[in-house]
Amino acid sequence: MIAPILRDLATLREMTRGWHMAGETIGVVPTMGALHDGHLSLVAEAKKRADRVIVTIFVNPKQFNNPEDLENYPRTEEDDARKLERFGIDAIWAPNGDTMYPPGFATGVAVSGLTDVLCGAHRPGHFDGVATVVTKLFTQTAADLAFFGEKDFQQLQVVRRLARDLDLGVEVVGCPTIREIDGLAMSSRNLLLSDRARVRAPRLNEVMEEIAAGLAQGRTMSELTPSALKALENADFLSVDYLELRSCDTLALLETPTEPARLLAAAHLAGVRLIDNIDVPVVG
Ligand code: PAF
Repeated sequence: MIAPILRDLATLREMTRGWHMAGETIGVVPTMGALHDGHLSLVAEAKKRADRVIVTIFVNPKQFNNPEDLENYPRTEEDDARKLERFGIDAIWAPNGDTMYPPGFATGVAVSGLTDVLCGAHRPGHFDGVATVVTKLFTQTAADLAFFGEKDFQQLQVVRRLARDLDLGVEVVGCPTIREIDGLAMSSRNLLLSDRARVRAPRLNEVMEEIAAGLAQGRTMSELTPSALKALENADFLSVDYLELRSCDTLALLETPTEPARLLAAAHLAGVRLIDNIDVPVVG
C-alpha cells in the first residue's frame, strides 16, 4: 500500500484527529530520510505497537552545525516511499522547510546536562535542533508512541527526557541498532563513504568490542583507550571526537562499568563522521 505523502499540517491534523476519535493509537517514526534497514526495523516495531503509523521525513537544518554536512545529506524521498510500501503505514509526513519553520519562527527547545557531553560537546547547537524538531514532530503528528534507534543513544536519552519534562504524553521506545554483516552500524551517512573507507569503517565497532572485552576482564578505560586510538588511527580514522564509557542513565563518565553502561564513539573516516555505541555488561 502506498502511503500518502502529506506536506500540509491541516490535512495531517484532520487525519490524526479522526484516528484518535476512533480510539486508535498513533506511532511515529521520525527520520531524515535516506531510509535503511535500521529505520525499517523501527517501522516494523511501530506497526506491531500502534494502530496507526506515521513516518516523518524532514532533513532538519537546525540540527546541522556544518552547512556542508547539511548540503551533502542524502535526500531520497521517492526511494524512501517505495521502501515503506510493504509495511502498510498510514502516512508519510514530509513538510517543507517553511511549514516546519515559518518565517519569524523564534522558539527552541533545549535539554540541559545530557547535551553537554559527547556529540553535544562536538556539535554545538545540534541537540537544540533535534529537541526542537522532535517536539514539533510529536505535536504535529499527535504521537502516542515514538520509535528511535539506540544507534543514536544520546539522542534517545535527550528525547526521553524532553518527552518527560514537557509532559508530551508520548511513550519513547528505543530499538536496537541494526548492523551490516561486518558490524558497521547502519546509518544514512554510510552512503557517503568511498569504497575504500567502507572497507575500513567496521574497524570502529571491532575496536569498541575489543575495549568491551577488556572491561569485562576488569581493565579500565585509561588502560584500554591508548591502544584503541592507535588501532583507529591505523585504520585511517584521522580524528576521534570521543571514545568513552558512560552511564546509560545520566551519561556520566565512567572508568569501569560499575553500573549499566554504554561505550560510545564518534570518529571521522575520509571526511565522514561515524558514530556507534555498544552495551557493556556491569562488572561487579
Ligand atoms: O535521528 C534522526 O534522524 C534525527 O535526528 C531526527 C530524530 C529525525 C530529528 O531530525
